[in-house]
Amino acid sequence: MSRIKRFYELGELGHNKVEDLLKKAKSSETSFNPRRLEGKVLATLFLNPSLRTLTSFQASMARVGGSTFVVSPEMSIHGLETMDGIVMDGRAAEHIREAVPAIASYADVIGIRALAKGFNLAHDVSDADFIEIQSLCDIPVINMESAIHHPCQSLADWKSLDDMSIPRKGGKIVVSWVYHPDPLSHSVPGDTIHMAAMRGMNVTLLRPSGFELSNYIMDRARETAALTGGSVVETDDRDEALKDANVLYVRSWMSSEDYGKKLADRNRRNELRDWCVDHSWFKHTHDNCRFMHSLPVRRGVEVLDEVLDSRLSAVTLQARNRMYTQMAVLDELLRTDKQSS
Ligand code: CP
Repeated sequence: MSRIKRFYELGELGHNKVEDLLKKAKSSETSFNPRRLEGKVLATLFLNPSLRTLTSFQASMARVGGSTFVVSPEMSIHGLETMDGIVMDGRAAEHIREAVPAIASYADVIGIRALAKGFNLAHDVSDADFIEIQSLCDIPVINMESAIHHPCQSLADWKSLDDMSIPRKGGKIVVSWVYHPDPLSHSVPGDTIHMAAMRGMNVTLLRPSGFELSNYIMDRARETAALTGGSVVETDDRDEALKDANVLYVRSWMSSEDYGKKLADRNRRNELRDWCVDHSWFKHTHDNCRFMHSLPVRRGVEVLDEVLDSRLSAVTLQARNRMYTQMAVLDELLRTDKQSS
């Protein structure tokens, strides 16, 4: 099977490559060569905060003998300007146009986090900011979450679903909006429904009115489901959505209706504080329905402790699987042709 040149989103990899990565990730749980990527360097550029992505990539690289360095605007660098065509007479004394090629020249692979700016839905859906930064790199690029994709999370979540024996064909996943005080991006819900559709699952998007996801996200998931034998529907009816669900995957995102209008979006969300998961959400689900969340999660706001601390919760498994799946991605991008697959 041919090697990938970048890790941008699961859809462009195709099913066979995803299966290949999952197989390697599974085997990394029990054995791996601690010198497999000796001498290789991973550069990471975090334009936004992270805990799991940052640390799991460092751990992934360390376990196979490679090393990592991290750059973020909060460090003692010269500030980092991202706007095009700007006169740089403000705080930042460095532009990504010079910084990114310099960082990339020190490494064999680069991971970039550049989240949605949240001003314009069409701009964020186009992923223009990430694609522009990527064009400045002449080494393989890993998307560590962009405006519209989070492939590292989705690959780990696919493995977590497999680990929990959630059926691929016929399994039902409900991806639900919940209340959160901040306007979060559409990357995780969009990629989660697409990942589940790739897996052949029956997907229900549960969201209040005004929080529909973009046509790009919904059409892409529906087209994929049509090929895999899955399905994608959306509703604001919680009881109907959760009936017989095998998985409840929770995430908040900013309103599509009021996208870029921060006050209107906040007012709309403030009316929906009761969208907080408690045990009652599981009354009509499958007996073994699991709770998933990509983290970080706000306890008592998005979900109550009674769920998060219960046997239903898969959040630690999801976080741990970030490391194993990323070991597979790094191996795919960095191993030399002389090394066996
Ligand atoms: N799930 C996830 O990407 O977590 P971080 O934002 O902490 O990296």
